[in-house]
Amino acid sequence: TTTSHFSHVESISKLSAAGKISGVNAVVLGEALASEEDELVFPNDEFSRQALVPSPKKYLEMYKRSVEDPAGFWSDIASQFYWKQKWGRPVFSENFDVRKGNVKIEWFKGGITNICYNCLDRNVESGNADKIAIYWEPNDPGSQDSLTYFQLLQRVCQLANYLKDKGVKKGDAVVIYLPMIMELPIAMLACARIGAVHSVVFAGFSAESLAQRIVDCKPKVVLTCNAVKRGSKVITLKEIVDAALVESAKSGILVDLCLTYENKSAMKRESTKWREGRDVWWQDVVPKYPTTCEVEWVDAEDPLFLLYTSGSTGKPKGVLHTTGGYMVYTATTFKYAFDYKPSDIYWCTADCGWITGHSYVTYGPLLNGATIVVFEGAPNYPDSGRCWDIVDKFKVTIFYTAPTLVRSLMRDGDEYVTRYPRKSLRVLGSVGEPINPSAWRWFFNVVGGSRCPISDTWWQTETGGFMITPLPGAWPQKPGSATFPFFGVQPVIVDEKGAEIEGECSGYLCVKSSWPGAFRTLYGDHERYETTYFKPFPGYYFSGDGCRRDKDGYYWLTGRVDDVINVSGHRIGTAEVESALVSHPQCAEAAVVGIEHEVKGQGIYAFVTLVDGVPYSDELRKSLIHKVRNQIGAFAAPDKVHWAPGLPKTRSGKIMRRILRKIASRQLNELGDTSTLADPNVVEQLIALADR
Ligand code: WT7
Repeated sequence: TTTSHFSHVESISKLSAAGKISGVNAVVLGEALASEEDELVFPNDEFSRQALVPSPKKYLEMYKRSVEDPAGFWSDIASQFYWKQKWGRPVFSENFDVRKGNVKIEWFKGGITNICYNCLDRNVESGNADKIAIYWEPNDPGSQDSLTYFQLLQRVCQLANYLKDKGVKKGDAVVIYLPMIMELPIAMLACARIGAVHSVVFAGFSAESLAQRIVDCKPKVVLTCNAVKRGSKVITLKEIVDAALVESAKSGILVDLCLTYENKSAMKRESTKWREGRDVWWQDVVPKYPTTCEVEWVDAEDPLFLLYTSGSTGKPKGVLHTTGGYMVYTATTFKYAFDYKPSDIYWCTADCGWITGHSYVTYGPLLNGATIVVFEGAPNYPDSGRCWDIVDKFKVTIFYTAPTLVRSLMRDGDEYVTRYPRKSLRVLGSVGEPINPSAWRWFFNVVGGSRCPISDTWWQTETGGFMITPLPGAWPQKPGSATFPFFGVQPVIVDEKGAEIEGECSGYLCVKSSWPGAFRTLYGDHERYETTYFKPFPGYYFSGDGCRRDKDGYYWLTGRVDDVINVSGHRIGTAEVESALVSHPQCAEAAVVGIEHEVKGQGIYAFVTLVDGVPYSDELRKSLIHKVRNQIGAFAAPDKVHWAPGLPKTRSGKIMRRILRKIASRQLNELGDTSTLADPNVVEQLIALADR
């Protein structure tokens, strides 16, 4: 039954037909409203008229079909892609209920296709050969680069031929450790072309983290570059790879080919540390290969990529996505959530090292034949106006970013924005964490000049694509709400016991049945897949997020309910940070919690117990933070270290994080019941040491 998804849309239709408030007025009106839930921001009529989904009614029609006849709905869309051989029957099959056996999801099984072919060859052949596929903006302003669809295809083919020549075959893993240069999407597409499974590791991860991922998927080749400039800093990526390969060799994983791109603007090849025999300069070999390359046709259910993400234990999870469903889903979500038109210039500020960069820098947009912007640098370099400089330079129409960047630019002041005309912008997007209403309004009013709808897209590495998202033009938005489910998605809110709650409520966000872009397993650990996502609330996929549904049916994401912290839109497991801290020889125990952070959304707050007799000092604090940077990456460095001679534990030895969270946020009057603690005195002691 899907009735609960429909009522809101009908009420929105009525409101919208009444047409009393529209566009900008609603935001101004909003200031005087009783609660944020009442603030409706209507799309302006001009926008709605040209939108792909122009009304609640149209959405409702499409949504109804997508959940009542998913096979028909998605088959029609899938038919717009190229399939060497059409999928069989059934169009999809799923077991979503662990009680009935192993969880299994399949879409378009038996269909034979290739996602690289659909991104490139299909667009080249349909008249887009000379259309710009990628505009590239380097770290230092003043120059640029670009590739047409035809040129991109040629580059991809050369690399694909090289990899094949080096023995990379269908199903083999390839690790990619690259910054945002064009070679990163090129590398992903080249792997996809030959059926190799890419595992992109964000180039902000440490050697240890990279090694861990290399050991897990045992790649034939690692693709990297010598260095990158971010802002005024040079980061020597190749040295990180060198260290990672030494580390992974200790576990018996030997990688004998490291293809290295010479990123000249950051570092010349002469200064790069080199290992003869293993290391090869990209520019010396790849351009010699032919610019055409046969496609490796794969089954829709053959793996496309692995991407590691954090969970509540120390070990990262290798999220596995397959080809066909992911292709159809990323393309469709991209098109509708951003109201994509062929004339758009699209810029997503995410790095390809995260899922957003997979689905919405590379695959989703290119499948639609879009022109994308790839930006190497930092959004506040040389100053906080850089984004708008880039928007004006390439006439960006769709700008997709994270709330953390919005908040940090908002803090820097409107002048950096208003200095640039930004006339080309028509749709804005937000992802990674809930966007607070005040940041939403600033983004809408100042950046978007009160004329661009904001698609606040809720989704996850695991979901492959958008799950809950506005369709700009279709219905009014509420600042801070991701609004309604995408086609084919049936979200439910459940209570602790796993019972579905209807209407206005809050609880745990789950999904009722599969969608094409869903991940199929955790690499090498299907049991953990079932335990983490399908066992907590049998019959459902559990997202790990809390959620509220308001009286109008709008969804409001309220953040993680597990031991995962969301720092600047990056998911960090508290257990990972703790294990990095305790690997410091002077740290005996650590407990990490999230705290509210003005810019990052959440910050990392670490309580540390030291080895007996070790005094706490500023130096030690720094060296603990350094340890986390080294083990995970700079983005996971604790914002605050709190020396804890003892931690609040129950008599059975369990750390009471509830109390630690209150101490971390200095809500000292709300510590709650501390009588079950083995030693209630530790709380007093912790409070006394809070600002040391
Ligand atoms: C977690 C997934 C998927 C894109 C990047 C992060 C949070 C993501 C939103 C949003 C509220 C959001 C959730 C989710 N999240 N987008 N629009 N509103 N929360 O991917 O690393 O897999 O993290 O990010 O908590 O579970 P990820």
